[in-house]
Amino acid sequence: MSQRCFAVTKDALSRFKTISNPLAPASLAANEILLNIDKFAFTANNMTYAHAGGPPLNYWHFYDNLCGGEGLLQHESYVKKVNAVGIIPVWGFGTVTHSRNKHVTEGSRHYGFYPMASSIKYNPSKASAPSFTVAREDPELAAVYNTYLNTETDPFYSGSACENVMMVYRPLFLTSFFLDDYCASKFKSVDQVVLTSASSKTAFALAHQLKQRGVTVIGLTSERNLGFCESLGLYDSVYNYDNISDIQSNKTKTVVVDMAGSHDVNLAIDKHFGINIVENVGVGMTHNTVLFGNKSALSEHARAARTFFFAPAWIKRRIAEDATIMESAAASYIKFTATSDEKQWLEFNTTMTIEEVYAASESNSVNPNTGLITRVI
Ligand SMILES: NC(=O)c1ccc[n+]([C@@H]2O[C@H](COP(=O)([O-])OP(=O)(O)OC[C@H]3O[C@@H](n4cnc5c(N)ncnc54)[C@H](OP(=O)(O)O)[C@@H]3O)[C@@H](O)[C@H]2O)c1
Repeated sequence: MSQRCFAVTKDALSRFKTISNPLAPASLAANEILLNIDKFAFTANNMTYAHAGGPPLNYWHFYDNLCGGEGLLQHESYVKKVNAVGIIPVWGFGTVTHSRNKHVTEGSRHYGFYPMASSIKYNPSKASAPSFTVAREDPELAAVYNTYLNTETDPFYSGSACENVMMVYRPLFLTSFFLDDYCASKFKSVDQVVLTSASSKTAFALAHQLKQRGVTVIGLTSERNLGFCESLGLYDSVYNYDNISDIQSNKTKTVVVDMAGSHDVNLAIDKHFGINIVENVGVGMTHNTVLFGNKSALSEHARAARTFFFAPAWIKRRIAEDATIMESAAASYIKFTATSDEKQWLEFNTTMTIEEVYAASESNSVNPNTGLITRVI
């Protein structure tokens, strides 16, 4: 039996290959479990994990151990491996096929943060019937990614019919829910919020949340996705990236939530809004040019107004402050996904191979109304 992993070349993401690792269930050590990775979603968020694979977020570190090489722990700190290839993490479901952990039963299914692989062996650091937690080799990685929830008791899970929705929307909606929470706590009196990559699920789920509070939300998107954004009915108005100068800006206190991470778009926003930008919250990198652009071309104000929102950090902080906030998030998730279902914002494609899904995502040829679900066979 072997474990097949879909690995990409870290510095040339259009290149990929399958790696096979030997995996013998009979050799599981005490406490170890083996899961079959049944299926997972792939969105621009996963491409961003690859773009942010290195420091400071280090998404490659989650599953570098599947790419060969020697032990990773040295002197109590994680040493970055020199693997040329890496495995992108994905959100999906796995079924426990073998277990030597008394709390994790064979046949149970778990939602969580898996590698793009056919199977995975874990050695849970904590386990109970509702969930198990794994310790990563790099202890600096955000803990929110380490728990795998049993579908039997997960409050977000309502049967197999909800699985596609959950794999695509759950991590993105939670980000949007907590981004809205962040905006509500920080910006008491802004006139409008501008979202870039407005066609992304994280953006339009945020628009949905902001609208519930009566906030004016403007979408910025590419020409080809303008119609989709308008059809959602979530934005007060939508502009394409070439028409930023048409947006109301005079004496208009504006917050930007930036999913696109485009240097050129941020330059145009700076030029148009100037000091009316209250904060430009960096969230995503669907366009992935923000880190490479010439920052000195931005005004001093734009540089000072730029922040970075990392959902795991804000979620950790808010859960510590408010023990009921995840219940509110779950209730909002149910409302949002029901609306998405009713209004047919998303359709699912479950027939593409992993290679097809990855190539389409990497080349930006996925329709924004399509949620891609696949697996490694
Ligand atoms: N900071 C955090 O904690 C956090 C958490 C969750 C998600 N995020 C980020 O939010 C972003 C959106 O994720 P998502 O999964 O919601 O996205 P998604 O729904 O898959 O978004 C698809 C949209 O992204 C843009 N896009 C995708 N690939 C592109 C490419 N190669 N070149 C140019 N545009 C591209 C296009 O939008 P337009 O045409 O409208 O630009 C496209 O319609 C990601 O960068 C993700 O990592 C951040």
